[in-house]
Parts: sequence; C-alpha cells; structure tokens
Amino acid sequence: FHPHDPTPAPATTESASPPPASDSGARKRTPSDFVFGRVLGEGSYSTVLHATERDPAAPNQYAVKILDKRHIIKEKKTKYVAIEKDVLNALDHPLVVKLYYTFQDAQSLYFVLELARDGDLLGFVRKLGCFTEDAARFYVAEIIIAVEYVHSKGIVHRDLKPENILLDENMHIKLTDFGTAKILDSDSADASTPPSEKRNSFVGTAEYCSPELLNDRAASKSSDVWAIGCILYHLLAGKPPFKGVNEYQTFQKIIKLEYEFPDGFPSAARDLVSAVLVLDAAKRPSLADIRAHAFFAGFHWTDVHLRPAPDLR
Ligand code: ADE
Repeated sequence: FHPHDPTPAPATTESASPPPASDSGARKRTPSDFVFGRVLGEGSYSTVLHATERDPAAPNQYAVKILDKRHIIKEKKTKYVAIEKDVLNALDHPLVVKLYYTFQDAQSLYFVLELARDGDLLGFVRKLGCFTEDAARFYVAEIIIAVEYVHSKGIVHRDLKPENILLDENMHIKLTDFGTAKILDSDSADASTPPSEKRNSFVGTAEYCSPELLNDRAASKSSDVWAIGCILYHLLAGKPPFKGVNEYQTFQKIIKLEYEFPDGFPSAARDLVSAVLVLDAAKRPSLADIRAHAFFAGFHWTDVHLRPAPDLR
C-alpha cells in the first residue's frame, strides 16, 4: 500500500498508541514500516493518514502527516515545515500532540504523530450545536493548560481554533498544527516585556485572528489569548463571535470589535469573553488572569488531563 493511494488499508487490531519503547526509538523508520489507512485530515500542503506500525510485537497506531516536497518548495513553505518540526520536538505535554519520528523519501516528508482518535472540537460543536457551560469550562481549561505550556517554551501557536484541538479516545484534548507557530525571541519570551515589533507574513484563520495580526502582523502570546476568547464564545454560542459573509467582512468585524452575545449566554462567561476580546493586546488578561476569573471559580486545575472528561454525547 502506497501512502498516496486513497484505498483504505485492511483493518488491523485496535490498540492504543503508547510511546514507542526506547529501544525502537533509535532506528530510522521508513514508509514501509507502516500500514497506511484512512485519511484523518487534509491541509494545503499535507495529508494526515492513519497508520499502524508493521512491528507485530507492537502494532502501535499513529497519525502520519505526509508533506509533498515539490509542492512545499514551489510554494516557499520550507521554513514553516522546519518550524513545525522544531516546535514539535521542543514540546512534550499530555495535552499536546507528540512527534515520534520523522523521515523522508524522494517525494515526501513524513511526521509520525500521536493519534487522536476522536476527531476535533469543531466536529463536536457542529454535532451538538453548542456546549453546556461545564463542558465549555472543561475544554477551555484544557486549552489554557496546553497553551500555557507552549508559551512557557517561548512559542506562540498563532492559529488556535476548534479544528486544531483534537480529541483522544478519552475525550481529552491534543493541541496540534504548529506549522504556523512562532518561536519568540528570548526578550519577548518573557511575559513582562512588550510583544515583538517584528512583522510576520502570517495571518491566521479569519474567524480567530486577532486585530493586531490584521493591523500590524505582530504576534504575541496575547494573540493566542484572543483566540481562546473566540473559542470560549464559539463553544457556548455554537458559532464564532466574528463571522462575515467572506474573509474581508470577517476581518472588518474583528477590527471594529463587532460582535454580540446571544440570549442566554452565561453571565460569567460573558464577562470573561468581554475582558479577553479587547482590541488593545496589552489590555487583555494573561492566561493566569483567565484562570483566576469567576467563570472558573471552584474549577480544579490540577491533573485535569487525568480526570474524566465531561460526557458530550
Ligand atoms: N488529524 C491531524 N492530525 C491528527 C492526529 N494527530 N490524530 C488524528 N487526526 C489527525
């Protein structure tokens, strides 16, 4: 079976994907070490396939991101691919997708990632319409914990959105898609210093994009905070706060801070979203401030990833 062949591979025994044993970590993998299965996701430069390691002693399952080299070179995206690999290699957290191996062949680069079996948060919001206040609190808390960890490594995600919040078999989150992340310079990695003034070419997905990214393209940790505010709103309202008929109209709404709360939006969440969605990035709360907000009153922040997730079904 070739990874570009869309035919699903024969069903294999279901098993979880524990981290590979340390003795198997040293050997360089090749595509023939895996049986590729169904398509899990598709991006502009990559396809993610389900894959099972052939090793009969340990048929671990993974999500393998396959990137087409020619296309990446032609579109001048090599820098982003290198950043994604470097960032994933720098991260090790239960709520962030792990990168186990990378390898390549003549056409493709392969990122062997931790498998998240239960889809993404967008799929669940679409299916449910909206989340209960308890479910929204739990998932936003896990996102905050994951993003705090990422920030602690001097990395800004820059494209946080429900599609990039994957769910594992226990319905805990696995943050993914670091292809547009930014590694902060050592001065701006410190939360006490102002955001980097450097211009970046990247602008995130329209609906969750912060006003500063649109105005001066300067990304900082507070741009991720903005996106978290949009996600909290989205989970409770069933739609993102800023959504125009096209990208341009969405951007217009963002820079004018044009959004409304639907009737019945819980009041503590309303207060939190209003504090987060402010145009001046410097006036937004930090993730630590958000943790301390009344919306999270009584919420237990320790070992969230080990506790049962709320039942969404
Ligand atoms: N789609 C993209 N990345 C994935 C992953 N790690 N697990 C499952 N589906 C995915």
